[in-house]
Amino acid sequence: MEDIKPKDKSSYIPLSTLTNKAKQTGGTRKLYVETYGCQMNFADTEIVNGIMGNHGYTITDDIEDSSVILVNTCSIREHAEAKVLQRLTELKKYKKNNPGMVIGLIGCMAERFKRDLVKKTKVVDLVVGPDEYRKVPELIENIIDTGEKGIAVRLSKVETYDDIVPLRKEGISAWLSIMRGCDKFCSFCVVPYTRGRERSRPLEGVVAEVAQLWRNGFKEVTLLGQNVNSYASSGNDFADLLRECALAVPEIRIRFTTSHPQDISMKLIETIAKYDNLCNYIHLPMQTGSNRILDLMKRSYTIEHYMGIIDNIKKIIPDVSLSTDIITGFCTETDEDHGMTLDIMDEVKFDGAYMFKYSPREKTKAWEMKDDVDEETKTSRMMDIVELQRVISHEKNSGLIGGKYDIVIEGVSKKSDSMLTGRTDGNKSVIIPKNGTSIGEKVTVKILKANSATLFGELVK
Ligand code: SAH
Ligand code: SF4
Ligand code: F3S
Repeated sequence: MEDIKPKDKSSYIPLSTLTNKAKQTGGTRKLYVETYGCQMNFADTEIVNGIMGNHGYTITDDIEDSSVILVNTCSIREHAEAKVLQRLTELKKYKKNNPGMVIGLIGCMAERFKRDLVKKTKVVDLVVGPDEYRKVPELIENIIDTGEKGIAVRLSKVETYDDIVPLRKEGISAWLSIMRGCDKFCSFCVVPYTRGRERSRPLEGVVAEVAQLWRNGFKEVTLLGQNVNSYASSGNDFADLLRECALAVPEIRIRFTTSHPQDISMKLIETIAKYDNLCNYIHLPMQTGSNRILDLMKRSYTIEHYMGIIDNIKKIIPDVSLSTDIITGFCTETDEDHGMTLDIMDEVKFDGAYMFKYSPREKTKAWEMKDDVDEETKTSRMMDIVELQRVISHEKNSGLIGGKYDIVIEGVSKKSDSMLTGRTDGNKSVIIPKNGTSIGEKVTVKILKANSATLFGELVK
């Protein structure tokens, strides 16, 4: 999954009702949350905001104006954790200026370090793991009343926050977690340890939330899970869930991430092809092109199996966009293994790729192996794959020049106020002149120009 940037400032969708507790506290305390990591963490922040909103908190985008700061964290690579630890040293000043300020660390780092974070950082009052967010308001009350640090890091086999209404910012595109945790235990990955066992939200709850999103003005929803292909709810699989969402709200665009190559089914691929509002875009992390490394990574598929899936997808969904994740420099990776990854990239021609240098994570199986690819080699292999993907993305995007595509306008372009930006069904960003169109509209555009990251087009009258 990709790391995402916080959205622009905009208003939160107001909650229709506040609980009694909220009324008692007068709704005056202000919460500021900073989020790092994957889309699921961003979706979790909206759940936390929902819980806090129910307890009378107002959510603010202005850190200076807040009395509680929560940092929702990621542990996937060392760099992700280093960024947060650095940020915590900066947050000290808010506490100095306002001694009543509560600073909490939630998410995957909270789960991984637990109580040690209090000692390690000296600024944290509250440490809450991903399955204990319901306790945040009461822990904060206790910190204020007694000065005691608040720690809640138990993982759950059942928590899905199905009954919590996430407090989302108004917008075009929404995240929606359909499951939590992961049971795959890939040898490099910390997620099964920070997020616990896999569990799915009931199908009816997900479909109802998609319908509510449409009523709230969202035009697109991305269904989230670490491995959506193992979604299971009362005999329904992920393809069933997609079909039910597509039928219930035919106008909303539906995306999903992430698919694990072991579990992706023909039924799923056929379902995507069948319903217009299911986007023709699949993110299918391959990690490496070498079977030997795939085996060491405990990915549970071979590259032949992976290529078989890619062939089926391309056959059944001819205009599909594909993206992937690649780890470079995993333990024992040789130049030959690296060459195999480059070959597969060349063969599949992914529209996009998220590429990472291997970062050893404590507790994982690979932690016991030697991280024996030196930094210089990792960097040079990383440069190879990034450059190859840039060329392929440019090639694929250039192939769209002259074509007409529907895009949903998502906002004003970062580069110019007179331009708007939207995305195609295949998840490609397109920039067009404003020309009377507005945010949220679905319009047809003709592609005029392309680079490796963006398409440039004009409105088709
Ligand atoms: N559940 C998703 C992946 C979630 S993590 C899946 O299996 O497809 C997103 C990506 O981060 C992974 O696909 C992998 O490419 C990368 N990643 C995970 N652990 C890593 C590590 N220890 N070092 C480097 N990259 C890692
Ligand atoms: Fe991590 Fe593998 Fe689970 Fe993805 S499927 S979250 S890479 S353990
Ligand atoms: Fe996501 Fe990072 Fe946790 S990728 S699941 S926030 S370790």
